[in-house]
Amino acid sequence: MAVSPPSRLALRGDLLDFTAAPVWGETASSAVRFRPDHWLLIDGGRITGAQPAAEPLDPSWQAVDHRGRLILPGFIDTHVHSPQLDVIASHGTALLDWLDTYTFPAERRYADPAEAEAGAARFLDALIAHGTTSAVVFATVHKVSADTLFAAGEARGMRLITGKVLMDRHAPDGLRDDVDQAERDCTDLITRWHGHGRLSYAVTVRFAPTSTPEQLAMAGRLCATHPGVYMQTHVAENQDEVRWVAELFPEARSYLDVYARAGLLNARGVFAHGIWLDDTDRAALHAAGAQIAHSPSSNLFLGSGLFDWRAAEAAGVAVSVASDVGGGTSLSIPRNLADAYKVQAMRGERLSAWTALHASTRGAAHALGLGHEIGSLDAGATADVCVWDWATGAVAERRHSVATALHEQVFAWMTLADDRNLAAAYIAGVPRFQRAPAPC
Ligand code: GUN
Ligand code: ZN
Repeated sequence: MAVSPPSRLALRGDLLDFTAAPVWGETASSAVRFRPDHWLLIDGGRITGAQPAAEPLDPSWQAVDHRGRLILPGFIDTHVHSPQLDVIASHGTALLDWLDTYTFPAERRYADPAEAEAGAARFLDALIAHGTTSAVVFATVHKVSADTLFAAGEARGMRLITGKVLMDRHAPDGLRDDVDQAERDCTDLITRWHGHGRLSYAVTVRFAPTSTPEQLAMAGRLCATHPGVYMQTHVAENQDEVRWVAELFPEARSYLDVYARAGLLNARGVFAHGIWLDDTDRAALHAAGAQIAHSPSSNLFLGSGLFDWRAAEAAGVAVSVASDVGGGTSLSIPRNLADAYKVQAMRGERLSAWTALHASTRGAAHALGLGHEIGSLDAGATADVCVWDWATGAVAERRHSVATALHEQVFAWMTLADDRNLAAAYIAGVPRFQRAPAPC
C-alpha cells in the first residue's frame, strides 16, 4: 500500500555513518561520521540534515525521541534468497547436496502464486525486522515469484533489486525453464518493473552449472539490451562446484571467465562468494567494476571456505556483505558481520567494525551505483534509517557500559547485536517496523 511519508520528522539518537571508505585495519578513522545525541531531520521521505539535540528543535518537526540509541542507515543485503527462509538451518550438507536435498524442493513450492505472494511478504517483513531496508534478492525460476516480490517491495517502498532465476539444466522437474520462454519472461518483467519507483531488475543466473551456454548467452544479451539492469549470480563458492564448472566449461580459463565470456561481467554485476578466485579473476572483477557479495555466515555454515577479503580489497574489488539465507543462518547483518570478523581472524586478519559496517551501508550503495540514495545519513539521501539499542541483555549492557573508545563500543555492538536490538525501521521516512513494547 502506498503510504506518504510524514513531513518534517525528527529522530533523536546517536547518528553513525561514513563519508568515505575506511582504511583496512584502522580503528580510528576519519571516514567515520559519529554525531552523538543529534536530531536527524527528515522531510518528505528524504534526509534534510541533522542538528545537535542541545539546540532547540523547531516545533514544526514531529519529534521522535530515541535518545541513547544508535541510528544507522538501513542495511543493504546484497545477496539473499527469498524462498529459502523455509530451509534456513538445514543439517548436514555442503553446497551441492544442500541444493538437491533442501533448497530445490523448497523453491518448487513457488510455482504456486499464492505461495509466492505469501512468501514474498513474509520475506520482506523479516528483512525489515532485521534492520535491512534494501536488498539484492534471488526469487525462484518461476516468473510469478519475481512478480510477487516486486509487488511486495513496491508496497513497502523498498529499494529492491531482484529477478527471476535462470536455470535450464541440472535442476529437477518443476524448476527448469528454457531459453526462449525465459527470455520472454525476463523481458516482460524488465518492462514492467525495472526503474519502476525504487525497483530494479537483476538478470539472475543461478550459477554456471544450471545454465546451458545458450542460456548464459541469452542472459548476456539481456544485460546488453537493457542498460541499467543488474546481474546477480554465484561464483567460486565451493571447491566441488569449481571442479564441476571446469568440467562443464573446459574452454574457460576460470569459473569467473565463464561469465565474462557470456557478457555477464560488468559494473552492475553482483557475484556472491568469490572464495576460490585467483589474482587474474580479481583483476577482471576490478576492471569491470563488479562487486563480490561476501556471505560469511553461509560460508561457515556450508563449510565453503574462508573468503580472502584483504586480497579483494588490495585488487580494488568492492566487497559488500550478504546473508545468503538460507545457506546463511541469519538475516541479521550484525550477526553476519560478527561471522565476517571470525572468518578474517581465521585468516590472520583483523576486520574493523568500520570496514564491516561500511561494506553493509555506504560501500554496498556505491558498488550498486546507488550512493546518492541509500547507505548514508547524508542530506538528500532517501530516509532509510534504523534505530538500534546499543545493547540488549545483561552481558551486552555490561560490555557497552565499560567500553570507552568509539570503535570499542561499535565493535561490541556489531559482535553482540541481532534483531532484538532493533527498535524501529523507517523506509523513505515511513515507519515500517516498530518493536512491540515490552510487557509490564
Ligand atoms: N549456488 C547455486 N545456488 C545457490 C544457492 O541457492 N545458495 C548458495 N549459497 N549457493 C548457490
Ligand atoms: Zn546464494
